[in-house]
Amino acid sequence: MKLLIRGGRVIDPANDIDGIMDILVADGKIIEVNENISDEGYVLVDAGGKIVCPGFIDMHVHLREPGFEYKEDIASGTRAAAAGGFTTVCCMPNTDPVIDNASTAIFVRERAAKSGVVNVLPIGCISKGQAGSELTEMAELIAAGCVAVSDDGKPVKNAALMRNAMDYAKMFDLPVLSHCEEQSLAADGQMHEGYYSTLYGFKGIPAAAEELMVSREIILAELTGAHVHICHASTRGSLEMIREAKAMGVDVTCEVTPHHLLLTDEIVGSYDADTKVNPPLRSTEHVQALRRGLLDGTVDCIATDHAPHHMESKDCEYNLASFGISGLETAVAAVMDGLVNQGLLDVEQMVQLFTIGPAEVLGIDKGTLDVGADADITILDPTMVKVVDPANFYSKGKNTPFKGQTLKGWPWMTIVKGTIIVNGGKIV
Ligand code: DOR
Ligand code: ZN
Ligand code: ZN
Repeated sequence: MKLLIRGGRVIDPANDIDGIMDILVADGKIIEVNENISDEGYVLVDAGGKIVCPGFIDMHVHLREPGFEYKEDIASGTRAAAAGGFTTVCCMPNTDPVIDNASTAIFVRERAAKSGVVNVLPIGCISKGQAGSELTEMAELIAAGCVAVSDDGKPVKNAALMRNAMDYAKMFDLPVLSHCEEQSLAADGQMHEGYYSTLYGFKGIPAAAEELMVSREIILAELTGAHVHICHASTRGSLEMIREAKAMGVDVTCEVTPHHLLLTDEIVGSYDADTKVNPPLRSTEHVQALRRGLLDGTVDCIATDHAPHHMESKDCEYNLASFGISGLETAVAAVMDGLVNQGLLDVEQMVQLFTIGPAEVLGIDKGTLDVGADADITILDPTMVKVVDPANFYSKGKNTPFKGQTLKGWPWMTIVKGTIIVNGGKIV
């Protein structure tokens, strides 16, 4: 099938393109990006008034399969991704069993090929069983299609193990994704430690719990020469260390989440467990620092940390609830509405943070509209206004603190390898 996407504002930061153009797609590939391509027998997509981008990439999602299909599975999670404008997701290995060997990684890829609707790239574990004592066979994980390693969901406590992991990962040019949390400081904490934790009567998780481990990872990355990527960076101190390390030539990158960019710890006063997430929603000074990091290039990409949970582990006392936010279906709209429409982030920068930004972190051949590339395309409607209603989510996880918010600027069409998966915001 041939598709002609006509008359949209094409933004492709990797190729420095921003203008009204047409895109021709055939056999799942990008054939041409140009002004006024003639339409001979093509299926036309009228993109007038829309923003046409390389397919968005979310390098940090929890698809929960295998093992936790009651929270999410690859079918529902990839539909949520597509509806949210993502054409590629990387799935974290804290499943059951965890993705710590080739056969589990291959299982995930086969399930994705069968039941998924977007590209799924698995992330393998750093340690066997995510138990933090013995390294996985990284060469085997790479051969099975893993694009990075991580024990996300928990930190790698042992610094020597992390050093070894980096030494190995360096040999394969494999990024090591670190969930930074010093658990002796974070233990039993429910929310960010500060004014509001005192006011609301919750045990706090100090910024230092994250920052201690960010500093360790930077020091180990410098020691080993490996590429360390800081997951869900959420504090001013983390951003300052990452900025300085980058300037010193350390191979460190980081992601931030939409919820940490747009929400503060004040909203935990609703006592709604959908605001409970790890790392926790921070105070205004931290949110401001993350936003500065977006603008000055300290932040490499936006990732959701999509963490769907079952209602039973959220519709309960705050202290007992699970940590996590179902983020795939609100990420783009929340960033459009909360940052781009407010003049706090250029739309080109936003597109960069969702496309070539994460592609470069992972070293994958995605995130551009290069001729010959897979025709993964995300089209945004900057005028669409919708209220966030988790009842309409494709994700099984309805846990979102954005519920009830009216947002302007939504993903409109998602095309994966030349096939229209989402049209008008709905799976076709
Ligand atoms: O909030 C979170 N949820 N943070 C994590 O690190 C793990 C994730 C999950 O898997 O639910
Ligand atoms: Zn994490
Ligand atoms: Zn995560």
